[in-house]
Amino acid sequence: GKVAVLMGGHSAEREVSLMSGSGVLKALQSKGVDAHAFDPAERELVELKQKGFQRCFIALHGRFGEDGTVQGALELLGIPYTGSGVMASSIAIDKVMTKRVWMAEGIPTPKFTLLRRESYTREIIRTVPDDLGLPVIVKPAREGSSIGVAKVKGYSEMQNAVEQAAALDSDVLCEQFISGDEVTCPVLGTGDSAVALPVIRIVAPEGNYDYQNKYFTDDTKYIVPCGLPAGEEQAIQDLVLRAYRVLGCRGWGRVDVMIDGATRKPYLLEINTSPGMTGHSLVPMSARAAGISYEDLCVQLLALASL
Ligand code: DAL
Ligand code: MG
Repeated sequence: GKVAVLMGGHSAEREVSLMSGSGVLKALQSKGVDAHAFDPAERELVELKQKGFQRCFIALHGRFGEDGTVQGALELLGIPYTGSGVMASSIAIDKVMTKRVWMAEGIPTPKFTLLRRESYTREIIRTVPDDLGLPVIVKPAREGSSIGVAKVKGYSEMQNAVEQAAALDSDVLCEQFISGDEVTCPVLGTGDSAVALPVIRIVAPEGNYDYQNKYFTDDTKYIVPCGLPAGEEQAIQDLVLRAYRVLGCRGWGRVDVMIDGATRKPYLLEINTSPGMTGHSLVPMSARAAGISYEDLCVQLLALASL
């Protein structure tokens, strides 16, 4: 039957989603799938039903796509879709909620302070590094692709960083910086049959894996096999799988992790329930290292589409 590749959308990651979606669309078509692009920013989702689409591949990122809203609409329309359902998506889009669930389950994540736009004051902002130390990572709670993220190295930079994040989200996450190795680990599958794919180590220019270095420069190095000490990769994969299952994720996901350089302890930063599928993206890179081509990955994800 007809498959819609949902791409574009209304979020700050629209540009990234269009890159992901065009890759997925081309891959599915090359495998003989009757796939069509569908941009929820340009058309009503109810058209999916009217036009006879039988499944959706969600290649949307961020709000109104990765956050449970589109998933809820597809539930109501009765159209199976790739990836996580409503609850896992809506928790995972929120880095603070995700951390709370993980902490309750004993899954390590960096210490944090949540600032709410309606209640923070200059004084509260100024004292955040007293608790978290410096640098502090300041992020909008519900964004992706490092949009609005700042690494604050001094007290005087806090106010600007918080204002920049608060322009994108009323909830601002201030997080302890873990200095060490930056890695990511994809998960493929659902429930007991979910598996962790190879860990990728990310070495960005000056440790700055920002929007430009994610998608547009060729200066970031991706190391897979990751070359971590024996046992460390397996331990990360086990932890990531647990973190994925605890949230009830489905289909696929990708967990971003920092390994403390001194203690070698891994800290989970967040989980992406609709990971990037661009030419620079990490899930396809890891899948490739596991012997799964981009095209086969797309077909496998589509086969896992459910309600
Ligand atoms: N938020 C981007 C798309 C990612 O995590 O891959
Ligand atoms: Mg993310």
